[in-house]
Amino acid sequence: MLWVSAAVFAFVVVMGGWGLLRGRRRREGDLQRIVPWGDRFILIAGLGVTAAILVGFFLLSVRSMASLARAGKTASLEISVTGHDWWWEARYPNGAVTANEIHIPAGQRVRITLQSADVIHSLWVPQLAPKIDLIPGRNNEMWVRADKPGFYRGQCAEYCGLQHAHMIFFVVADPPDVFRTWMTAMAAPAPAPVDALAARGREIFLAQTCAGCHAIRGTAASGTLGPDLTHLATRGTFAAGTWPLTASNLTEWILDPQAMKPGVTMPPTALSPEEVRAVVAYLLGLGFTPAL
Ligand code: CUA
Repeated sequence: MLWVSAAVFAFVVVMGGWGLLRGRRRREGDLQRIVPWGDRFILIAGLGVTAAILVGFFLLSVRSMASLARAGKTASLEISVTGHDWWWEARYPNGAVTANEIHIPAGQRVRITLQSADVIHSLWVPQLAPKIDLIPGRNNEMWVRADKPGFYRGQCAEYCGLQHAHMIFFVVADPPDVFRTWMTAMAAPAPAPVDALAARGREIFLAQTCAGCHAIRGTAASGTLGPDLTHLATRGTFAAGTWPLTASNLTEWILDPQAMKPGVTMPPTALSPEEVRAVVAYLLGLGFTPAL
């Protein structure tokens, strides 16, 4: 397009200059010359050639536009992300479910479909993609690609209530083979409790209100209000990136979540210190075996 346009521009400038010179000569008393091919020239160059160039350009652009649009929409993987007040749920095509740590294969284009369970949120990973809103009753989509493996911090970018600023997440870009292993492990049911304390913890978890809101695949707990905890211990933080996942933080959280993240949907739990210890031991044992 550039070279053809440059040639047309040069031709027009030359013809314009020539016309100016001729006009001056006429004022100086030259006889007006008859140009026998004048009308035909205007018809051919002004209409024929111009139309051919424009139509040709248009057809070429349509082809390029179609292939560009296709190139932007192919993806090696599709992840469904749902925004909740105030955490992120991620579902993978093989049944893996996780929260707040969205793993993707590095160097590959990933399609993310976006839904909201309550109000408008906005998924934003500044290093990877522009903000896209998660709107109730509507499906949005975006494509991300991390060129290098790494940990990319993301943030809800649409005010969604009291803990909007604590609606953090991480996109973890793994080398593709590590990612495949991760996704397969994430889809597996929760590991069995490692010892008697953890087994007691599972019993309490299932008997108390916990199981009403959280799912642990492979057990009777199948709540969907809170994050899926099947492989909780593989995540570095909880409460949507707000707290590091440690035994003491988790203990405080289970007893009084409102003190650590005011406004959060999770209610306090009336458990004895022994019971909390068991539940924490159970939850912190929910990883992959063997660990990745
Ligand atoms: Cu979700 Cu702000």
